[in-house]
Parts: sequence; C-alpha cells; structure tokens
Amino acid sequence: MTTLIILAHPDIEASRVNRRWRQELLLHPEDVIVHELYKEYPDWSIDVPREQRLLEAHDLIIFQFPLYWYSYPPLLKKWLDDVFTHGWAYGSNGNKLNGKKLGIAMTIGDKKENYLPAGSVSFTVDEIIAPFQASAIHVGATALPYFAVFGASFQASDDDINQSAVDYLRYVKQDTGQFLL
Ligand SMILES: Cc1cc2nc3c(=O)[nH]c(=O)nc-3n(C[C@H](O)[C@H](O)[C@H](O)COP(=O)(O)O)c2cc1C
Repeated sequence: MTTLIILAHPDIEASRVNRRWRQELLLHPEDVIVHELYKEYPDWSIDVPREQRLLEAHDLIIFQFPLYWYSYPPLLKKWLDDVFTHGWAYGSNGNKLNGKKLGIAMTIGDKKENYLPAGSVSFTVDEIIAPFQASAIHVGATALPYFAVFGASFQASDDDINQSAVDYLRYVKQDTGQFLL
C-alpha cells in the first residue's frame, strides 16, 4: 500500500530541504502519494470529506513540515482541527484512524545539540512533539518515531541534504522507526 505524505510548507519553492525531500518522493509514485496542503488549499478552505477519504485509504501517513516556532506551520494545524473531527476520528463512533501509523518528518533549523536535554532550546524533539503523540493516542493510531534533519536553516550542506533525502525515503518505505538521526 502507498504511503500518504501530508506536506505542509508555506513556501516550498524557497525551501532547500523540504523541496529536495519532495523531489525524492516524487521519483516513487508507486509507493508514495505527496499531498501538498499549501498547494491544494491556497485559500485555506479545506475540503474535509476529501481529506478524510484520502486518510481512510492509507494505513501509513506521514506529516512532513519545517519546524516553525517549535510547532507545525499554521495550515497543518488548521487541517488537523478541521479534518480530525468528532464522530470520525474520535468519540464513540469515531474510529477511522484506529490502527493507522502516523509519522512526522521535520526539518529543524537549529543544531542537534541544542535539542539535547541540556541544550539551549531546553526541550528535546520528543518533548516538542508531545502534542502530536497525544493526538495519535487520542485517535487510536500509533505514533511512529520521528524523522528529522537538524541544522536545516544554514548548517546542512548539499551533501547532507541529499543524504537526508535518501534516508527519508527509507523511513517512508520501511516504516521501521529506526531513524532517530
Ligand atoms: C517562521 C519560522 C519559524 C521557525 N521556527 C524554528 C524553530 O522553532 N526551531 C528551529 O530549530 N528552527 C526554526 N525555524 C527554521 C526552520 O525550521 C528552517 O528554516 C526550515 O526547517 C528549513 O527547511 P526548508 O529548507 O525546507 O525551508 C523557523 C523558521 C521560520 C521561517
């Protein structure tokens, strides 16, 4: 079954890392569907039944985005609010995401050491993504370990980024969760 990538980047054409990752994914249309929220919904008017059908058709769903203020870009937050509805995703009859695997793939501007427990950010990435993990639990899905590239703002070299694209494709395809870079 194909993996669904929910890609949320407000300016993908100006992106270095997410754009390179997208390029890698698009080489494998038999394995991966890339669904770009900012391209699909420039007016932020989300077609909820369409999005829910797309989710129902996939068992492995990965949210790909640049880390902005230790969180998602805003259209992804709105998409979650709109699409993960009561009676569909949660509540007594809301079971459509039960058993699905949800992953996140992030580009992180800052250096990896700053996200260590004693680093300047003061929080680890696992702590930062706690809302995602809690959301997965709330809808009966499994939150996979995250995939991330650090130093995405300026430190990552072209070689680093190319390698990260290859590693990301392995994460997307293998679904083993062994990618805590
Ligand atoms: C509005 C905004 C907020 C950002 N917030 C963070 C942040 O909280 N932590 C961090 O490490 N980097 C932060 N960054 C840096 C981005 O994560 C980085 O530019 C992005 O991951 C690079 O990926 P791209 O080349 O695909 O755009 C921020 C960048 C912007 C524009």
